[in-house]
Amino acid sequence: MTSARVAGPAVLVGALLVSACGATETATPSSETAKSRVCGSDVADLRELAEQRGKTIGTAYRSTFAEGDPCYAAVAGTAFNSVTTEIGTMTNTVAPGPGRFDFREADAVAEFARKNKQDFQIHSLVWDPLDQQVWGIVPGYVKKMSTDGRRVFLNTLVTMVVKRYAGRASTVTVVNEPFDQSGRLQQNTWWQIHRSDQYIFDAFRAARSADPTMKLYLNEHSSETVSDKSTALLDLARRLRAQTVEVQIDGRPVRKPLIDGVGFQAHMLGGADQQPRIEDMRTNMRRFVDAGLDVRLTELDVRIPTEKGVSTAADLNRQGDVYRTMTGLCREFEACTGVTVWGFTDKRSWITDYPATFSGYGNANVLGAAYQVKPAWNGVEQALR
Ligand code: XIL
Repeated sequence: MTSARVAGPAVLVGALLVSACGATETATPSSETAKSRVCGSDVADLRELAEQRGKTIGTAYRSTFAEGDPCYAAVAGTAFNSVTTEIGTMTNTVAPGPGRFDFREADAVAEFARKNKQDFQIHSLVWDPLDQQVWGIVPGYVKKMSTDGRRVFLNTLVTMVVKRYAGRASTVTVVNEPFDQSGRLQQNTWWQIHRSDQYIFDAFRAARSADPTMKLYLNEHSSETVSDKSTALLDLARRLRAQTVEVQIDGRPVRKPLIDGVGFQAHMLGGADQQPRIEDMRTNMRRFVDAGLDVRLTELDVRIPTEKGVSTAADLNRQGDVYRTMTGLCREFEACTGVTVWGFTDKRSWITDYPATFSGYGNANVLGAAYQVKPAWNGVEQALR
């Protein structure tokens, strides 16, 4: 477990509330505090503020992390008004073997959202990250299929998952990370079907037909600023928007575009001289909004330098600034539906799960490993106020 170096009072609050969360003792000075505090954070604030702003504030959620850790579920269920499957609808989880679908993890997240009256989003149906093959997102049996077999499988996968969560999930990441850093299509398992972007159009078409009202998203990383990559993403999104498909809504035929929105992952850096350029991000986001698309920050986290799991107060403060900037950016645009953080406690983060990928960085989330409030949490809250 990592531990962040944070200011004294925050550590104290964290310690008090871990015991409260463990249900041994409720150490709350007043009923006012008792209402809003869970495991060290004034959790109600984020959710309430987001609702007042007409946005959703969400987190990636993984049901197994709640086992033996009541704070994980308590904070996720109270502080956020949206949850997204962290792994539940990824190909290797949902379609682990030939002809076999496994919805247990995604169902658990759907049920968690229902219980907590939260928006529910599913992520990410068609994805094959070439630089992270160790994650095994596309199982071997799929890679071994003929291109025609893969074409059929893609259609079945998208249709099965979207149909299952129709009426429950508001939003789905249909295609994730189709581009490389220079804006060329990744020549991955899915691209190989037609050796073109045809697989993307097919996936969106299948999703739209499976549930005409679910919001369909294209998602990408490192595209927050104007670049060859974000320009390629915009071009693709525009072409998806220009194509329509006839669907039935309330028994009536309606033509809908293939896409509703674009998600910017927003895996940010927060160290010295690593602050994002707000003007550039604003210009970029505006051109997507002007194309008639909804936008969302879908996987916000801000990794900072760490040594043996510890980060300096200066870096933690800078991290807070980045969280505030990013959340504020979304607030500027009515078409920005909200922000999802990719994990909310430093106890559970994909950044530190893969130390080789982000060597020397960590503590990327809004709460510390003991669920204590960090400047990052305050940054999000300030931006929503
Ligand atoms: C990560 C999850 O957090 C991990 O648990 C999983 O093993 C691999 O994927 N971009 C994405 C997310 O779109 O789906 C990734 O999530 C992080 C990078």
